[in-house]
Amino acid sequence: MSNSQIHLYYKNVTAEVIGPEHGMTKEQFSTLAEQTIGAITKVNDQRTAGKTPYRELPYNEEYPIAVKQIAVDLKGRCENFVVLGIGGSALGNIALRTALNPYMYNIDANQRKGSPRLFVFDNVDPAQLSSFLDWLGDKLDKTIFNVISKSGRTAETASQFLIIRQMLTEKLGPNAQKDHIIATTDAKEGTLRKIADVAGYRTLVVPDGVGGRFSVLSPVGLLSAAVCGINIDELLAGAAQMDKRVKSTNFFKNPAAINAAVNYHYYNHGKKISVMMPYAYALKDLADWYRQLWAESLGKTNSLTGTKVHIGPTPVKALGTTDQHSQVQLYREGPNDKLFTFLQTNEFASDLEIGPAPKAAPELDYLAGQNMSKLINSEKLATEYALLHDKRPCLTVLFDSINANTIGQFIYLFEVTTSIIALLFDINAYDQPAVELGKEATFALMRRPGFEQLADQIKPFAEIDKDFLI
Ligand code: PA5
Repeated sequence: MSNSQIHLYYKNVTAEVIGPEHGMTKEQFSTLAEQTIGAITKVNDQRTAGKTPYRELPYNEEYPIAVKQIAVDLKGRCENFVVLGIGGSALGNIALRTALNPYMYNIDANQRKGSPRLFVFDNVDPAQLSSFLDWLGDKLDKTIFNVISKSGRTAETASQFLIIRQMLTEKLGPNAQKDHIIATTDAKEGTLRKIADVAGYRTLVVPDGVGGRFSVLSPVGLLSAAVCGINIDELLAGAAQMDKRVKSTNFFKNPAAINAAVNYHYYNHGKKISVMMPYAYALKDLADWYRQLWAESLGKTNSLTGTKVHIGPTPVKALGTTDQHSQVQLYREGPNDKLFTFLQTNEFASDLEIGPAPKAAPELDYLAGQNMSKLINSEKLATEYALLHDKRPCLTVLFDSINANTIGQFIYLFEVTTSIIALLFDINAYDQPAVELGKEATFALMRRPGFEQLADQIKPFAEIDKDFLI
């Protein structure tokens, strides 16, 4: 097991650093601690009552075995592994790929070390998919498609699947589907389960009671990771390690509790925007994963008792240092309505020494001979310093290093933070009723039987009113 840890650094939200108007006082922390301990206890009780099965994923023994078996079977016959999914059925896969595979993984066979290229399609842009299929051409016979959909009804994933299915049959024959499609779906029900059973696809399970955005540590996220050489045992071990910390009712020892409490405090003190800003390219897509987790779990109309609350912090993604040159002007001088969460690593997968400056540019001498890792971490500190100067609260999640274990820790930390803050907000983190209307409107617009009435209601919006078109 790895000794690397992740740590939550929260001094830079305190009144001691940014003053009492925007910073949190000791008294506020004490009051919040009490309230949050109550929420941790409830979260722990919900878990014991079997209401949050995502909490047990790090300990499930069946899923990793099933996933690794498929990864072994694919060795030598799969050069391209393609995930078809959307939302919780794709964002975790993308985050793991970016975090744990080298930047040039898909391009450089040496960096892939015998694993297949990985592509994740989480959209229905015809130009994007066509370009990929053109490139795929005669490589189709060495390509495996992992269709991930709990329901199988999702129009995006279903349409991609129908295109691929037809293509496989036309180009490789009637048995090709069975050999080239792996379905990850509900164990018993749903459209994809039905199709997979009839067609005889290999299947993996989206566990019962685990919503898409909490499913990355299930077969949903584990298969593409394992196929691409990521150590899924370490990923799960990291999550289990974090579990020990986040179930603690000792507020000041529990990083999920402090993370939830700080975010909750700032939401109630005029900072309703939550910016996650990784300072490592590898961590970039974890911020996308977090956006969905936060937005779908915490953006709610009703409280648990049915009162209309229209609650939810707005998660925003930025990337250091790239967005220093795009967003920081606003972050420092615009409204003080944001809480910043930096992600930082002490150690990068590799480092570079900066070369000497040419004689014509002695002003660049200060960079020469220093490591690029020092520069990126200095820029993080410099940006944080500048934000603190303007009384903007900042948290940092500090990675000792980026590896499967610490990524597992991070995922579990934010999942449990979400569960705790949802109880502080008094809302249900595990449903997403507002996503449904858009899904159904798409069915109506695509003329799915049963949605005729909705199609009529949408009609006025489909007609362009030329008076307003310039
Ligand atoms: O988090 C969620 O529940 C959603 O983002 C779903 O994952 C997404 O809508 C895809 O649903 P499905 O897996 O049924 O295709």
